[in-house]
Order: sequence, then C-alpha cells, then structure tokens
Amino acid sequence: MAAADTPTILERDSSVYVLDQTRLPGQATMLRLATLEDAAHAIRVMQVRGAPLIGAIAAYGVALGLADDAGDARLDYVIAALAATRPTAVNLHWALARMERVLRESAPATRREIAWREARAIAAEDKAANSAIGVHGMPLLQARQKGKHPIQVMTHCNAGRLATVEHGTALAPVYAAHTAGLPVHVWVSETRPRNQGLLTAWELAEAGVPHTLIADNAAGLLLMQGKVDLVIVGADRIAANGDTANKVGTYLKALAARAHEVPFYVAAPLSTIDFACPSGKEIPIEERSGEELGAGSVPVANPAFDVTPAALITGIISERGVAAAGNLEQWRT
Ligand code: MRU
Repeated sequence: MAAADTPTILERDSSVYVLDQTRLPGQATMLRLATLEDAAHAIRVMQVRGAPLIGAIAAYGVALGLADDAGDARLDYVIAALAATRPTAVNLHWALARMERVLRESAPATRREIAWREARAIAAEDKAANSAIGVHGMPLLQARQKGKHPIQVMTHCNAGRLATVEHGTALAPVYAAHTAGLPVHVWVSETRPRNQGLLTAWELAEAGVPHTLIADNAAGLLLMQGKVDLVIVGADRIAANGDTANKVGTYLKALAARAHEVPFYVAAPLSTIDFACPSGKEIPIEERSGEELGAGSVPVANPAFDVTPAALITGIISERGVAAAGNLEQWRT
C-alpha cells in the first residue's frame, strides 16, 4: 500500500490498521490491530512508535479492549496492560488517563462507543496540533536562511509523520517550509540501535525533501564545520521545568549545538508536557533489551532515551507557539 497518501490510522470492521514500522523502510505493510493484546504488543515491540502515535494507538487499544466487556474491572485491566508497555513517552500515559476519565464517568453499556469516539478525538487533535507546530516552527527555519542556500536542519530519531498521527513534530516545520517553497535540507542521524533515522530518511524521500543520512557520531563534526543552521528534535516527555527526554543521543547533539552556537529546538504537542513531573530527574528512562545492540553475549546497557536540560534548549515549539524551555507555565491550561 502506498504510504504517503494513506491515513496513519485506518478503522475498519472494529479493527485498527497502522503501518508496521518494524518492516520499514523495506516494506510498507499495514498491521491489523484487532484486540487489546495486538495494540499492547505493537507498542511494546515498536511496530507502532513515536510518542504521539503511541498515545493515539493506546487510546484505540482501550476501545479494542472493551469490545466484549466494558465493566469497571475490565477497564482497570485494559488501562494497566497498555500503561505497562513503554514508560518514557508521556503521551501514552496522558492518553490513557484521558480515556479513563471519560469512561469512568459513563455507564458501562455506553463505554465501547465512547471509547472509539474519544480515541478518534485524540487522533484528530494530534493531527491539528502538529499542523500548528509546522506553522509556528517554519519562521524559525526561515530566520536561519542564508541567501538562496538550503536551510540546513539536523534532526535525531524519527519525529516525523510516522511518529505521529500526521505531519510529525520536529519535521512539521520542515514540511511546512518545503511546501512553502523554501529550500531545505535535513541531516538525519541514524539513531542506533533501532535506526529510526532510516524511517526519517524514508518519509523525507516520500515527501521529496532533500536529506542526508549520517552516523550518529558525525553530528558533532557537522556542527563544528558550520554545516547545520539549526537542530530540531521531538520529545517523549517534557518536564515542567523544560528538561526534555527524547531518543538517546539527543543530549549529545544539544551539547555540540551549544558549543557551536547553533539553535537547538524541541517540537512537541502539549500532550508531551508533563506538568506533574518537576524536572528531568523524575522522568523514567526506558531500558530496552540488550539484544537491540546485536552484540551477542557482551554485557550491554541500552537506555532508550536521554534528558536534555532546559538550559541547552533554545525554544520549545508547540501548537500554542514558541516558548523558552524554562517558561512553559504559560501553557499549563
Ligand atoms: O523509541 P521511539 O522510536 O518510540 O522514540 C521516538 C522518539 O524518541 C521521538 O523522537 C519522539 O517520540 C518524538 S515523536 C514525534
């Protein structure tokens, strides 16, 4: 199935279809999620990944999980099963809390229909938020343009449309600039060990945006050589003080960007801001299986995320606009 023009989430016959990201970039295969277990598994093994998309699919997972029984005990079970899939991306926990709130206050007989409706609303709101991020972020790219040269953007991981319901977060301003006819080129870091950079390269190619894949460790050199005008990354959880968890390797890019006076932006919808989490120290960091490094029997540590302190972040772009990382309070309501 062609990917560029396919909606990210398709509903058919009480099932949900999404791209299986573990098969990309080789194969664009739609994955059928028919049960709670399907949804939880897809999130855990990263067939579905990226904080906003995980949130939306978790919401649909609740709807799937209530198909035969929407009583209180089943609701508890469904929420707990999905919450246990991945710890860092707060969108997952935000979406589950929102689903639970709406469902608890409704009669069990009405919950199934309400769950589908709320999941659709979460997905639609993510799409709208990311579109607004594109609008707010594009002027930041434009401000860095030097003459007719392409604006050189560096990103990490995949914070594009594959990671969201539509548009992406970090890539939303890139797509907006490209659509507006601004010349833009993206340095895409490979993102070991799961190589989400290949997903970014794939979707940029589909959209016709010029890009170059680099090994993660090449980022510092490119920043030093003046080949990057700005860095934009996504986020999995932003603490109230602006400290930001994102895919491991983000922090090193932020350090190098600061050393070479290159602006470093984080783009994320408000659903990624965790006002209950005071600082980065309280953000749970997912430790994934060492097998992902493919190192055989060598002892391995595999933290999947790191935390970039607010002080290294030039600004956070959300659907509300651009704010200093230390000044998120304005977005609390
Ligand atoms: O482990 P992943 O692939 O789910 O991690 C994804 C990231 O770290 C993204 O940068 C983040 O979720 C932002 S997605 C718009």
